[in-house]
Amino acid sequence: MKQHQFEVVVVGAGGAGLMAALYASKTASTAVISKLYPTRSHTGAAQGGIGAALGNLEEDHPEWHTYDTVKGSDYLGDQDAIEFMCEEAPSIVYELEHMGLPFSRTEDGKINQRPFGGHTNNDTGRPVTRACYAADRTGHMILQTLYQQSIKNKVTFYDEFQALDVIVTDDGVAGVVALEIATGEIHVFHAKSVIFATGGWGRVWEITSNAYAYTGDGVAITLRRGIPAQDMEFFQFHPTGIYKMGILITEGVRGEGGVLINGKGERFMEKEGYAPNVKELASRDVVSRAMYLEMKAGLGIEGKRYLYLDVTPEMVNKYATLDGRTRPDGTPYRVTSEEILSKLPDIIDFCETYLGINPVTQPMPVQPTAHYGMGGIPTDKFGQVVVDKKNKILPGLYAVGENGCVSVHGANRLGTNSLLDLVVFGKHSGLKAAEYARNSGYIPLPENPAAFAEEQLEALRNSDGDEHISDIGNEMKEVMFDHVGVFRTEEGMSKALGKIRELKVRFKNIKLDDKGSVFNMDILNAWELSNLLDIAEVTTVSALKRKESRGAHARDDYPERNDKKWMKHTLAWLKEDDVKLDYKDVVFTKFKPKKRVY
Ligand code: FUM
Repeated sequence: MKQHQFEVVVVGAGGAGLMAALYASKTASTAVISKLYPTRSHTGAAQGGIGAALGNLEEDHPEWHTYDTVKGSDYLGDQDAIEFMCEEAPSIVYELEHMGLPFSRTEDGKINQRPFGGHTNNDTGRPVTRACYAADRTGHMILQTLYQQSIKNKVTFYDEFQALDVIVTDDGVAGVVALEIATGEIHVFHAKSVIFATGGWGRVWEITSNAYAYTGDGVAITLRRGIPAQDMEFFQFHPTGIYKMGILITEGVRGEGGVLINGKGERFMEKEGYAPNVKELASRDVVSRAMYLEMKAGLGIEGKRYLYLDVTPEMVNKYATLDGRTRPDGTPYRVTSEEILSKLPDIIDFCETYLGINPVTQPMPVQPTAHYGMGGIPTDKFGQVVVDKKNKILPGLYAVGENGCVSVHGANRLGTNSLLDLVVFGKHSGLKAAEYARNSGYIPLPENPAAFAEEQLEALRNSDGDEHISDIGNEMKEVMFDHVGVFRTEEGMSKALGKIRELKVRFKNIKLDDKGSVFNMDILNAWELSNLLDIAEVTTVSALKRKESRGAHARDDYPERNDKKWMKHTLAWLKEDDVKLDYKDVVFTKFKPKKRVY
Protein backbone atom coordinates (compact mmCIF):
# COMPACT_ATOMS: atom_id res chain seq x y z
CA MET A 1 0.00 0.00 0.00
CA LYS A 2 1.31 3.46 -0.94
CA GLN A 3 0.43 6.58 1.00
CA HIS A 4 0.22 10.23 -0.12
CA GLN A 5 -0.71 13.45 1.61
CA PHE A 6 -2.45 16.47 0.03
CA GLU A 7 -4.53 19.17 1.65
CA VAL A 8 -7.27 18.76 -0.96
CA VAL A 9 -7.98 15.60 -2.95
CA VAL A 10 -10.48 15.76 -5.80
CA VAL A 11 -11.98 12.53 -7.14
CA GLY A 12 -12.88 12.92 -10.80
CA ALA A 13 -11.38 15.04 -13.59
CA GLY A 14 -14.45 16.24 -15.49
CA GLY A 15 -15.43 19.90 -15.55
CA ALA A 16 -16.54 19.98 -11.89
CA GLY A 17 -13.44 18.21 -10.59
CA LEU A 18 -11.06 20.33 -12.65
CA MET A 19 -12.73 23.61 -11.70
CA ALA A 20 -12.64 22.57 -8.02
CA ALA A 21 -8.98 21.57 -8.33
CA LEU A 22 -8.09 24.77 -10.11
CA TYR A 23 -9.56 26.91 -7.34
CA ALA A 24 -8.35 24.74 -4.44
CA SER A 25 -4.83 24.71 -5.85
CA LYS A 26 -4.59 28.50 -5.65
CA THR A 27 -3.88 28.09 -1.91
CA ALA A 28 -3.74 24.37 -1.06
CA SER A 29 -1.69 21.38 -2.19
CA THR A 30 -4.14 19.61 -4.48
CA ALA A 31 -4.35 16.24 -6.20
CA VAL A 32 -6.88 14.88 -8.68
CA ILE A 33 -7.58 11.14 -8.82
CA SER A 34 -9.30 10.07 -12.04
CA LYS A 35 -10.31 6.67 -13.38
CA LEU A 36 -9.75 8.09 -16.89
CA TYR A 37 -7.15 10.26 -18.48
CA PRO A 38 -8.70 13.69 -17.62
CA THR A 39 -9.58 14.85 -21.12
CA ARG A 40 -11.51 11.62 -21.70
CA SER A 41 -13.98 12.60 -18.95
CA HIS A 42 -17.66 12.68 -19.85
CA THR A 43 -17.91 16.49 -19.69
CA GLY A 44 -16.33 16.23 -23.14
CA ALA A 45 -19.61 14.76 -24.43
CA ALA A 46 -21.65 17.86 -23.48
CA GLN A 47 -22.45 19.52 -26.74
CA GLY A 48 -24.86 22.38 -27.10
CA GLY A 49 -23.89 25.09 -24.63
CA ILE A 50 -23.56 26.59 -21.17
CA GLY A 51 -26.43 28.77 -19.96
CA ALA A 52 -25.75 32.39 -19.00
CA ALA A 53 -27.90 35.47 -19.46
CA LEU A 54 -25.24 37.48 -21.31
CA GLY A 55 -27.85 39.10 -23.53
CA ASN A 56 -25.40 39.22 -26.44
CA LEU A 57 -28.08 38.85 -29.10
CA GLU A 58 -31.24 39.98 -27.36
CA GLU A 59 -32.56 41.10 -24.00
CA ASP A 60 -31.98 38.61 -21.19
CA HIS A 61 -31.52 38.69 -17.40
CA PRO A 62 -30.21 36.36 -14.68
CA GLU A 63 -33.66 36.71 -13.03
CA TRP A 64 -35.27 35.20 -16.14
CA HIS A 65 -32.73 32.39 -16.10
CA THR A 66 -33.52 31.82 -12.41
CA TYR A 67 -37.25 31.64 -13.05
CA ASP A 68 -36.84 29.28 -16.02
CA THR A 69 -34.65 26.99 -13.92
CA VAL A 70 -37.15 26.94 -11.05
CA LYS A 71 -40.00 26.25 -13.47
CA GLY A 72 -37.95 23.60 -15.31
CA SER A 73 -37.24 21.90 -11.98
CA ASP A 74 -41.02 21.60 -11.48
CA TYR A 75 -40.49 23.76 -8.37
CA LEU A 76 -38.39 21.16 -6.56
CA GLY A 77 -35.10 23.05 -7.04
CA ASP A 78 -33.81 25.05 -4.05
CA GLN A 79 -34.36 28.64 -5.11
CA ASP A 80 -31.50 30.16 -3.10
CA ALA A 81 -28.99 27.90 -4.86
CA ILE A 82 -30.62 28.49 -8.27
CA GLU A 83 -30.45 32.27 -7.83
CA PHE A 84 -26.80 31.98 -6.82
CA MET A 85 -25.96 29.87 -9.90
CA CYS A 86 -27.81 32.07 -12.41
CA GLU A 87 -26.37 35.29 -10.96
CA GLU A 88 -22.85 33.85 -11.15
CA ALA A 89 -23.36 32.56 -14.71
CA PRO A 90 -22.31 35.60 -16.80
CA SER A 91 -19.09 36.27 -14.86
CA ILE A 92 -18.06 32.62 -14.88
CA VAL A 93 -18.59 32.36 -18.66
CA TYR A 94 -16.38 35.43 -19.16
CA GLU A 95 -13.85 33.83 -16.84
CA LEU A 96 -13.80 30.72 -19.05
CA GLU A 97 -13.42 32.98 -22.08
CA HIS A 98 -10.44 34.70 -20.46
CA MET A 99 -8.88 31.31 -19.71
CA GLY A 100 -8.87 30.76 -23.47
CA LEU A 101 -12.06 28.81 -24.17
CA PRO A 102 -12.73 29.18 -27.92
CA PHE A 103 -16.43 30.13 -27.93
CA SER A 104 -18.25 30.55 -31.24
CA ARG A 105 -18.62 34.24 -32.08
CA THR A 106 -21.27 36.64 -33.32
CA GLU A 107 -20.39 38.81 -36.32
CA ASP A 108 -19.34 41.58 -33.96
CA GLY A 109 -17.06 39.26 -31.99
CA LYS A 110 -19.16 38.52 -28.92
CA ILE A 111 -19.74 35.03 -27.49
CA ASN A 112 -22.49 33.52 -29.63
CA GLN A 113 -25.68 32.18 -28.05
CA ARG A 114 -28.50 29.88 -29.19
CA PRO A 115 -31.94 28.94 -27.84
CA PHE A 116 -32.34 25.77 -25.73
CA GLY A 117 -35.34 24.01 -24.19
CA GLY A 118 -37.13 25.83 -21.38
CA HIS A 119 -35.07 29.04 -21.63
CA THR A 120 -37.43 31.94 -22.31
CA ASN A 121 -37.96 35.65 -22.47
CA ASN A 122 -40.10 35.88 -19.35
CA ASP A 123 -42.17 38.74 -20.79
CA THR A 124 -43.17 37.07 -24.05
CA GLY A 125 -42.74 33.38 -23.20
CA ARG A 126 -40.76 32.98 -26.45
CA PRO A 127 -37.46 31.07 -26.54
CA VAL A 128 -34.42 33.23 -25.74
CA THR A 129 -30.81 32.83 -26.96
CA ARG A 130 -29.03 31.97 -23.70
CA ALA A 131 -26.81 28.94 -24.42
CA CYS A 132 -23.21 30.13 -24.94
CA TYR A 133 -21.58 27.64 -27.26
CA ALA A 134 -18.43 26.45 -28.98
CA ALA A 135 -20.09 24.84 -32.05
CA ASP A 136 -21.44 21.52 -30.67
CA ARG A 137 -18.29 20.85 -28.62
CA THR A 138 -18.86 23.12 -25.64
CA GLY A 139 -18.12 20.50 -22.95
CA HIS A 140 -15.05 19.33 -24.84
CA MET A 141 -13.70 22.87 -24.92
CA ILE A 142 -14.43 23.43 -21.22
CA LEU A 143 -12.60 20.22 -20.37
CA GLN A 144 -9.52 21.08 -22.43
CA THR A 145 -9.40 24.63 -21.08
CA LEU A 146 -9.70 23.60 -17.43
CA TYR A 147 -7.17 20.80 -17.81
CA GLN A 148 -4.61 23.19 -19.27
CA GLN A 149 -5.26 25.67 -16.44
CA SER A 150 -4.94 22.95 -13.80
CA ILE A 151 -1.61 21.79 -15.22
CA LYS A 152 -0.44 25.40 -15.25
CA ASN A 153 -1.51 25.71 -11.61
CA LYS A 154 0.58 22.66 -10.63
CA VAL A 155 -2.28 20.35 -9.66
CA THR A 156 -0.92 16.79 -9.22
CA PHE A 157 -2.81 14.23 -11.32
CA TYR A 158 -3.21 10.52 -10.60
CA ASP A 159 -4.63 9.29 -13.91
CA GLU A 160 -6.27 5.86 -14.20
CA PHE A 161 -6.70 5.55 -10.45
CA GLN A 162 -10.08 4.16 -9.37
CA ALA A 163 -11.36 5.65 -6.08
CA LEU A 164 -12.90 2.85 -3.99
CA ASP A 165 -13.63 4.33 -0.58
CA VAL A 166 -13.75 7.54 1.45
CA ILE A 167 -12.20 7.48 4.92
CA VAL A 168 -14.78 8.79 7.39
CA THR A 169 -13.84 9.21 11.07
CA ASP A 170 -15.78 10.55 14.08
CA ASP A 171 -14.15 13.96 13.48
CA GLY A 172 -14.77 14.15 9.75
CA VAL A 173 -13.25 12.95 6.52
CA ALA A 174 -9.57 11.93 6.43
CA GLY A 175 -8.96 10.83 2.84
CA VAL A 176 -9.63 8.48 -0.03
CA VAL A 177 -8.59 4.93 -0.92
CA ALA A 178 -7.89 4.24 -4.60
CA LEU A 179 -6.70 1.45 -6.87
CA GLU A 180 -3.91 2.10 -9.35
CA ILE A 181 -5.41 0.41 -12.38
CA ALA A 182 -2.10 -0.28 -14.14
CA THR A 183 -0.61 -2.22 -11.20
CA GLY A 184 -3.49 -3.25 -8.93
CA GLU A 185 -1.75 -1.47 -6.06
CA ILE A 186 -3.83 0.23 -3.35
CA HIS A 187 -3.07 3.90 -2.55
CA VAL A 188 -4.26 5.86 0.48
CA PHE A 189 -4.60 9.61 -0.01
CA HIS A 190 -4.51 11.32 3.37
CA ALA A 191 -6.38 14.64 2.96
CA LYS A 192 -7.96 17.46 4.90
CA SER A 193 -10.69 17.96 2.29
CA VAL A 194 -12.06 15.46 -0.20
CA ILE A 195 -14.19 16.59 -3.16
CA PHE A 196 -16.22 14.00 -5.05
CA ALA A 197 -16.82 14.89 -8.71
CA THR A 198 -17.33 11.48 -10.27
CA GLY A 199 -20.27 12.32 -12.55
CA GLY A 200 -23.47 10.39 -13.15
CA TRP A 201 -24.89 6.88 -13.36
CA GLY A 202 -26.75 6.64 -16.67
CA ARG A 203 -25.26 3.18 -17.21
CA VAL A 204 -28.09 1.88 -14.98
CA TRP A 205 -30.30 2.10 -18.10
CA GLU A 206 -30.19 0.22 -21.39
CA ILE A 207 -30.29 3.21 -23.74
CA THR A 208 -28.11 6.02 -22.46
CA SER A 209 -26.06 8.96 -23.67
CA ASN A 210 -23.59 8.30 -20.84
CA ALA A 211 -20.04 7.03 -21.21
CA TYR A 212 -19.11 3.54 -19.98
CA ALA A 213 -17.35 5.19 -17.07
CA TYR A 214 -20.58 6.69 -15.73
CA THR A 215 -21.24 4.15 -13.00
CA GLY A 216 -22.17 6.39 -10.06
CA ASP A 217 -18.95 5.73 -8.13
CA GLY A 218 -19.13 8.76 -5.82
CA VAL A 219 -22.76 8.20 -4.87
CA ALA A 220 -22.22 4.46 -4.29
CA ILE A 221 -19.05 4.99 -2.21
CA THR A 222 -20.73 7.54 0.04
CA LEU A 223 -23.93 5.46 0.35
CA ARG A 224 -21.79 2.59 1.66
CA ARG A 225 -20.38 4.96 4.27
CA GLY A 226 -23.82 5.86 5.62
CA ILE A 227 -24.22 9.13 3.70
CA PRO A 228 -27.66 9.57 2.10
CA ALA A 229 -28.42 10.17 -1.57
CA GLN A 230 -30.97 12.87 -2.42
CA ASP A 231 -33.80 12.88 -5.00
CA MET A 232 -32.56 9.78 -6.80
CA GLU A 233 -36.00 9.14 -8.34
CA PHE A 234 -35.42 12.05 -10.72
CA PHE A 235 -33.41 10.88 -13.70
CA GLN A 236 -33.65 12.80 -16.94
CA PHE A 237 -34.24 11.23 -20.34
CA HIS A 238 -32.85 13.48 -23.07
CA PRO A 239 -35.33 13.47 -25.97
CA THR A 240 -32.84 12.93 -28.75
CA GLY A 241 -30.47 9.99 -28.55
CA ILE A 242 -29.53 8.09 -31.71
CA TYR A 243 -32.03 5.22 -32.08
CA LYS A 244 -30.85 2.05 -30.31
CA MET A 245 -27.43 3.57 -29.47
CA GLY A 246 -28.46 6.41 -27.18
CA ILE A 247 -25.62 8.68 -28.36
CA LEU A 248 -26.54 12.31 -27.68
CA ILE A 249 -27.88 14.50 -30.46
CA THR A 250 -27.67 17.92 -28.89
CA GLU A 251 -30.71 20.01 -28.08
CA GLY A 252 -28.73 22.64 -29.99
CA VAL A 253 -30.14 20.95 -33.13
CA ARG A 254 -33.61 22.03 -32.05
CA GLY A 255 -32.18 25.39 -30.98
CA GLU A 256 -31.01 25.86 -34.57
CA GLY A 257 -34.53 25.07 -35.79
CA GLY A 258 -34.61 21.25 -35.98
CA VAL A 259 -38.12 19.77 -35.77
CA LEU A 260 -39.46 16.47 -34.41
CA ILE A 261 -41.61 14.50 -36.83
CA ASN A 262 -43.73 11.36 -36.31
CA GLY A 263 -44.51 8.46 -38.64
CA LYS A 264 -47.38 10.39 -40.22
CA GLY A 265 -45.04 13.27 -41.07
CA GLU A 266 -46.60 15.48 -38.39
CA ARG A 267 -44.70 17.97 -36.26
CA PHE A 268 -46.29 16.51 -33.14
CA MET A 269 -44.89 18.88 -30.46
CA GLU A 270 -47.46 21.48 -31.51
CA LYS A 271 -50.35 19.23 -30.47
CA GLU A 272 -52.54 20.44 -27.60
CA GLY A 273 -51.31 18.81 -24.37
CA TYR A 274 -47.69 18.74 -25.51
CA ALA A 275 -46.10 22.19 -25.97
CA PRO A 276 -48.04 24.26 -28.53
CA ASN A 277 -46.20 27.48 -27.60
CA VAL A 278 -42.53 26.56 -27.63
CA LYS A 279 -42.85 23.13 -29.30
CA GLU A 280 -39.45 21.38 -29.60
CA LEU A 281 -38.02 23.90 -27.14
CA ALA A 282 -40.07 22.78 -24.15
CA SER A 283 -38.19 21.31 -21.19
CA ARG A 284 -36.76 17.84 -21.73
CA ASP A 285 -39.20 15.93 -19.53
CA VAL A 286 -42.09 17.38 -21.55
CA VAL A 287 -40.54 16.54 -24.94
CA SER A 288 -39.48 13.01 -23.92
CA ARG A 289 -42.97 12.24 -22.65
CA ALA A 290 -44.56 13.53 -25.85
CA MET A 291 -42.24 11.31 -27.89
CA TYR A 292 -43.14 8.27 -25.78
CA LEU A 293 -46.83 8.93 -26.18
CA GLU A 294 -46.46 9.24 -29.95
CA MET A 295 -44.57 5.97 -30.17
CA LYS A 296 -47.03 4.23 -27.83
CA ALA A 297 -49.87 5.36 -30.12
CA GLY A 298 -48.13 3.63 -33.03
CA LEU A 299 -46.91 6.91 -34.50
CA GLY A 300 -43.21 6.07 -34.49
CA ILE A 301 -41.47 5.95 -37.87
CA GLU A 302 -42.84 2.86 -39.62
CA GLY A 303 -44.58 2.12 -36.31
CA LYS A 304 -41.21 1.53 -34.63
CA ARG A 305 -39.84 3.00 -31.37
CA TYR A 306 -38.22 6.06 -32.91
CA LEU A 307 -39.07 9.43 -34.44
CA TYR A 308 -37.30 11.81 -36.77
CA LEU A 309 -35.32 14.87 -35.79
CA ASP A 310 -35.05 16.93 -38.95
CA VAL A 311 -32.59 19.81 -39.30
CA THR A 312 -32.42 19.89 -43.09
CA PRO A 313 -32.59 23.56 -44.23
CA GLU A 314 -35.77 22.82 -46.17
CA MET A 315 -37.65 21.68 -43.02
CA VAL A 316 -36.10 24.28 -40.72
CA ASN A 317 -37.04 27.10 -43.08
CA LYS A 318 -40.55 25.74 -43.69
CA TYR A 319 -41.40 25.63 -39.98
CA ALA A 320 -39.53 28.86 -39.16
CA THR A 321 -41.82 30.56 -41.72
CA LEU A 322 -44.95 28.95 -40.25
CA ASP A 323 -43.87 29.91 -36.71
CA GLY A 324 -42.97 33.45 -37.79
CA ARG A 325 -39.53 32.87 -36.23
CA THR A 326 -37.15 35.77 -36.54
CA ARG A 327 -33.51 36.29 -35.64
CA PRO A 328 -32.91 38.51 -32.61
CA ASP A 329 -32.36 41.47 -35.00
CA GLY A 330 -35.89 41.00 -36.39
CA THR A 331 -34.96 39.46 -39.78
CA PRO A 332 -36.75 36.24 -40.80
CA TYR A 333 -35.00 33.11 -39.50
CA ARG A 334 -33.59 31.09 -42.41
CA VAL A 335 -30.66 28.68 -42.45
CA THR A 336 -28.35 27.32 -45.11
CA SER A 337 -26.52 23.98 -45.31
CA GLU A 338 -23.25 25.82 -44.64
CA GLU A 339 -24.63 27.27 -41.41
CA ILE A 340 -25.83 23.87 -40.17
CA LEU A 341 -22.45 22.39 -41.04
CA SER A 342 -20.52 25.05 -39.16
CA LYS A 343 -22.74 25.04 -36.07
CA LEU A 344 -23.22 21.28 -35.69
CA PRO A 345 -20.06 19.64 -37.05
CA ASP A 346 -19.87 16.82 -34.49
CA ILE A 347 -23.53 15.88 -34.90
CA ILE A 348 -23.02 15.56 -38.63
CA ASP A 349 -19.90 13.54 -38.05
CA PHE A 350 -21.63 11.18 -35.53
CA CYS A 351 -24.54 10.58 -37.90
CA GLU A 352 -22.24 9.88 -40.83
CA THR A 353 -20.12 7.55 -38.71
CA TYR A 354 -22.80 5.63 -36.81
CA LEU A 355 -25.78 5.81 -39.16
CA GLY A 356 -24.35 6.50 -42.60
CA ILE A 357 -26.67 9.48 -43.02
CA ASN A 358 -26.06 13.18 -43.55
CA PRO A 359 -28.29 15.38 -41.33
CA VAL A 360 -27.98 18.28 -43.77
CA THR A 361 -30.02 16.26 -46.25
CA GLN A 362 -31.66 13.50 -44.18
CA PRO A 363 -33.62 13.28 -40.89
CA MET A 364 -32.04 11.60 -37.86
CA PRO A 365 -33.75 8.61 -36.17
CA VAL A 366 -33.99 9.41 -32.44
CA GLN A 367 -35.47 8.13 -29.19
CA PRO A 368 -35.26 9.38 -25.57
CA THR A 369 -32.00 8.35 -23.89
CA ALA A 370 -31.08 8.17 -20.18
CA HIS A 371 -29.01 11.29 -19.73
CA TYR A 372 -28.68 12.97 -16.34
CA GLY A 373 -29.24 12.38 -12.63
CA MET A 374 -30.82 15.35 -10.90
CA GLY A 375 -30.17 13.77 -7.50
CA GLY A 376 -26.93 12.74 -5.83
CA ILE A 377 -24.89 13.39 -2.71
CA PRO A 378 -26.69 16.20 -0.81
CA THR A 379 -24.74 19.44 -0.46
CA ASP A 380 -25.11 23.10 0.34
CA LYS A 381 -24.16 25.75 -2.23
CA PHE A 382 -20.47 25.51 -1.29
CA GLY A 383 -20.48 21.82 -2.13
CA GLN A 384 -20.28 20.84 1.55
CA VAL A 385 -21.91 17.44 2.01
CA VAL A 386 -24.92 17.47 4.34
CA VAL A 387 -26.14 14.26 5.90
CA ASP A 388 -29.63 14.76 7.28
CA LYS A 389 -32.87 16.71 6.88
CA LYS A 390 -31.45 19.53 9.02
CA ASN A 391 -28.48 19.88 6.65
CA LYS A 392 -25.83 18.79 9.16
CA ILE A 393 -22.42 19.22 7.50
CA LEU A 394 -19.93 16.34 7.36
CA PRO A 395 -16.61 18.19 7.89
CA GLY A 396 -14.10 17.87 5.06
CA LEU A 397 -16.39 16.23 2.49
CA TYR A 398 -17.61 17.98 -0.69
CA ALA A 399 -19.51 16.87 -3.78
CA VAL A 400 -19.94 18.76 -7.06
CA GLY A 401 -21.20 18.30 -10.60
CA GLU A 402 -23.58 15.51 -11.46
CA ASN A 403 -22.75 13.37 -8.42
CA GLY A 404 -23.74 16.25 -6.13
CA CYS A 405 -27.25 17.49 -5.39
CA VAL A 406 -27.28 21.19 -4.44
CA SER A 407 -30.23 21.11 -5.54
CA VAL A 408 -30.42 23.39 -8.57
CA HIS A 409 -32.13 20.95 -10.93
CA GLY A 410 -34.94 19.72 -8.70
CA ALA A 411 -37.11 17.27 -10.60
CA ASN A 412 -35.87 18.16 -14.07
CA ARG A 413 -32.75 19.96 -15.31
CA LEU A 414 -32.79 22.57 -18.05
CA GLY A 415 -30.35 21.94 -20.87
CA THR A 416 -27.06 23.93 -20.49
CA ASN A 417 -27.42 24.08 -16.71
CA SER A 418 -25.18 21.05 -16.12
CA LEU A 419 -22.11 22.79 -17.54
CA LEU A 420 -23.05 25.87 -15.56
CA ASP A 421 -23.58 23.84 -12.37
CA LEU A 422 -20.20 22.21 -12.63
CA VAL A 423 -18.19 25.38 -13.14
CA VAL A 424 -20.08 27.50 -10.58
CA PHE A 425 -20.21 24.93 -7.81
CA GLY A 426 -16.84 23.46 -8.79
CA LYS A 427 -15.30 26.87 -8.18
CA HIS A 428 -17.03 27.45 -4.86
CA SER A 429 -16.40 23.97 -3.50
CA GLY A 430 -12.72 24.29 -4.44
CA LEU A 431 -12.51 27.60 -2.57
CA LYS A 432 -14.38 26.23 0.43
CA ALA A 433 -12.35 23.02 0.58
CA ALA A 434 -9.10 25.02 0.50
CA GLU A 435 -10.39 27.39 3.20
CA TYR A 436 -11.31 24.44 5.42
CA ALA A 437 -7.88 22.92 4.81
CA ARG A 438 -6.21 26.20 5.81
CA ASN A 439 -8.01 26.24 9.12
CA SER A 440 -7.72 22.59 10.14
CA GLY A 441 -5.11 19.90 10.67
CA TYR A 442 -4.99 16.42 9.17
CA ILE A 443 -7.32 14.02 10.98
CA PRO A 444 -5.21 10.93 11.85
CA LEU A 445 -5.87 7.94 9.60
CA PRO A 446 -7.53 4.90 11.19
CA GLU A 447 -5.39 1.82 11.78
CA ASN A 448 -5.99 0.09 8.48
CA PRO A 449 -7.52 2.77 6.24
CA ALA A 450 -7.72 0.52 3.17
CA ALA A 451 -9.42 -2.43 4.88
CA PHE A 452 -12.96 -1.80 3.57
CA ALA A 453 -11.79 -1.22 -0.02
CA GLU A 454 -9.58 -4.31 0.03
CA GLU A 455 -12.39 -6.40 1.45
CA GLN A 456 -14.64 -5.37 -1.47
CA LEU A 457 -12.01 -6.23 -4.08
CA GLU A 458 -11.07 -9.53 -2.47
CA ALA A 459 -14.71 -10.60 -2.28
CA LEU A 460 -14.98 -10.00 -6.04
CA ARG A 461 -11.67 -11.66 -6.86
CA ASN A 462 -12.40 -14.76 -4.79
CA SER A 463 -16.04 -15.18 -5.73
CA ASP A 464 -16.29 -18.57 -7.36
CA GLY A 465 -19.86 -18.89 -8.59
CA ASP A 466 -21.33 -19.31 -12.04
CA GLU A 467 -22.89 -15.90 -12.75
CA HIS A 468 -21.43 -13.61 -15.39
CA ILE A 469 -21.39 -9.86 -14.70
CA SER A 470 -22.51 -8.99 -18.23
CA ASP A 471 -25.74 -11.02 -17.78
CA ILE A 472 -26.49 -9.30 -14.48
CA GLY A 473 -25.71 -5.89 -15.96
CA ASN A 474 -27.88 -6.45 -19.03
CA GLU A 475 -30.85 -7.66 -16.98
CA MET A 476 -30.55 -4.62 -14.69
CA LYS A 477 -30.40 -2.18 -17.63
CA GLU A 478 -33.39 -3.75 -19.34
CA VAL A 479 -35.70 -3.82 -16.33
CA MET A 480 -34.74 -0.25 -15.35
CA PHE A 481 -35.33 1.03 -18.88
CA ASP A 482 -38.70 -0.71 -19.15
CA HIS A 483 -40.05 0.12 -15.70
CA VAL A 484 -38.12 3.01 -14.13
CA GLY A 485 -37.82 5.10 -17.28
CA VAL A 486 -39.83 7.91 -18.84
CA PHE A 487 -43.18 6.56 -17.52
CA ARG A 488 -43.58 4.58 -14.31
CA THR A 489 -46.24 2.61 -12.41
CA GLU A 490 -46.44 0.91 -9.02
CA GLU A 491 -46.65 -2.47 -10.72
CA GLY A 492 -43.71 -1.89 -13.06
CA MET A 493 -41.45 -0.41 -10.41
CA SER A 494 -42.26 -3.20 -7.93
CA LYS A 495 -41.29 -5.67 -10.61
CA ALA A 496 -38.05 -3.78 -11.20
CA LEU A 497 -37.25 -3.64 -7.49
CA GLY A 498 -37.80 -7.40 -7.15
CA LYS A 499 -35.50 -7.98 -10.10
CA ILE A 500 -32.76 -5.66 -8.81
CA ARG A 501 -32.81 -7.40 -5.43
CA GLU A 502 -32.65 -10.79 -7.14
CA LEU A 503 -29.66 -9.53 -9.18
CA LYS A 504 -27.93 -8.30 -6.03
CA VAL A 505 -28.19 -11.82 -4.61
CA ARG A 506 -26.92 -13.35 -7.86
CA PHE A 507 -24.06 -10.83 -7.87
CA LYS A 508 -22.67 -12.58 -4.77
CA ASN A 509 -22.26 -15.63 -6.97
CA ILE A 510 -20.20 -14.17 -9.83
CA LYS A 511 -17.05 -15.60 -11.32
CA LEU A 512 -14.38 -13.39 -12.84
CA ASP A 513 -12.11 -14.66 -15.61
CA ASP A 514 -9.17 -12.45 -14.68
CA LYS A 515 -7.79 -12.83 -11.16
CA GLY A 516 -4.63 -10.81 -11.83
CA SER A 517 -3.51 -7.34 -10.77
CA VAL A 518 -2.36 -5.57 -13.93
CA PHE A 519 -5.12 -3.64 -15.73
CA ASN A 520 -7.74 -6.02 -14.34
CA MET A 521 -10.81 -4.51 -15.98
CA ASP A 522 -12.83 -7.58 -15.04
CA ILE A 523 -12.64 -6.78 -11.35
CA LEU A 524 -13.14 -3.08 -11.99
CA ASN A 525 -16.24 -3.66 -14.11
CA ALA A 526 -17.64 -5.95 -11.41
CA TRP A 527 -17.05 -3.29 -8.77
CA GLU A 528 -18.72 -0.68 -11.03
CA LEU A 529 -21.69 -3.01 -11.51
CA SER A 530 -22.07 -3.28 -7.74
CA ASN A 531 -22.33 0.53 -7.69
CA LEU A 532 -24.98 0.53 -10.40
CA LEU A 533 -27.02 -2.14 -8.61
CA ASP A 534 -27.00 -0.14 -5.36
CA ILE A 535 -28.03 2.99 -7.24
CA ALA A 536 -30.77 1.16 -9.16
CA GLU A 537 -32.20 -0.05 -5.85
CA VAL A 538 -32.08 3.39 -4.21
CA THR A 539 -33.61 5.00 -7.32
CA THR A 540 -36.45 2.51 -7.50
CA VAL A 541 -37.32 2.62 -3.79
CA SER A 542 -37.31 6.44 -3.86
CA ALA A 543 -39.47 6.44 -7.00
CA LEU A 544 -41.97 3.87 -5.70
CA LYS A 545 -42.56 5.93 -2.60
CA ARG A 546 -43.17 9.23 -4.43
CA LYS A 547 -46.82 8.93 -5.37
CA GLU A 548 -47.13 11.88 -7.74
CA SER A 549 -45.78 13.03 -11.13
CA ARG A 550 -43.20 15.80 -11.08
CA GLY A 551 -40.53 16.67 -13.65
CA ALA A 552 -38.78 13.56 -14.87
CA HIS A 553 -40.72 11.31 -12.46
CA ALA A 554 -43.91 10.60 -14.44
CA ARG A 555 -46.32 8.04 -12.99
CA ASP A 556 -49.24 6.70 -15.00
CA ASP A 557 -50.97 5.81 -11.73
CA TYR A 558 -50.44 9.25 -10.12
CA PRO A 559 -50.44 11.60 -13.12
CA GLU A 560 -50.72 14.89 -11.19
CA ARG A 561 -48.14 16.87 -9.26
CA ASN A 562 -49.12 16.90 -5.58
CA ASP A 563 -47.48 19.89 -3.88
CA LYS A 564 -49.38 19.37 -0.64
CA LYS A 565 -47.83 15.98 0.01
CA TRP A 566 -44.73 15.86 -2.14
CA MET A 567 -43.11 19.28 -2.27
CA LYS A 568 -40.09 17.82 -0.48
CA HIS A 569 -36.69 16.31 -1.21
CA THR A 570 -36.14 12.59 -0.72
CA LEU A 571 -33.16 11.40 1.32
CA ALA A 572 -32.28 7.71 0.95
CA TRP A 573 -29.88 5.63 3.06
CA LEU A 574 -28.65 2.26 1.84
CA LYS A 575 -29.02 -0.40 4.53
CA GLU A 576 -27.89 -4.05 4.49
CA ASP A 577 -31.07 -5.37 2.83
CA ASP A 578 -33.17 -2.27 2.51
CA VAL A 579 -33.32 1.43 1.74
CA LYS A 580 -34.41 3.88 4.45
CA LEU A 581 -36.12 7.12 3.38
CA ASP A 582 -36.63 10.52 4.96
CA TYR A 583 -37.58 13.92 3.51
CA LYS A 584 -36.36 17.49 3.76
CA ASP A 585 -37.80 20.89 2.91
CA VAL A 586 -37.42 22.62 -0.44
CA VAL A 587 -36.05 26.18 -0.23
CA PHE A 588 -38.30 28.91 -1.65
CA THR A 589 -37.35 32.54 -2.17
CA LYS A 590 -39.43 34.36 -4.83
CA PHE A 591 -41.33 31.89 -6.92
CA LYS A 592 -44.53 30.21 -5.82
CA PRO A 593 -45.34 26.86 -7.49
CA LYS A 594 -47.54 27.13 -10.58
CA LYS A 595 -48.73 24.64 -13.16
CA ARG A 596 -46.10 24.46 -15.90
CA VAL A 597 -47.25 25.39 -19.39
CA TYR A 598 -44.87 25.39 -22.36
O1 FUM B 1 -28.35 18.68 -25.67
C1 FUM B 1 -27.24 18.95 -25.22
O2 FUM B 1 -26.38 19.54 -25.84
C2 FUM B 1 -27.01 18.58 -23.83
C3 FUM B 1 -26.77 19.52 -22.97
C4 FUM B 1 -27.08 19.33 -21.56
O3 FUM B 1 -27.33 18.19 -21.14
O4 FUM B 1 -27.14 20.32 -20.85
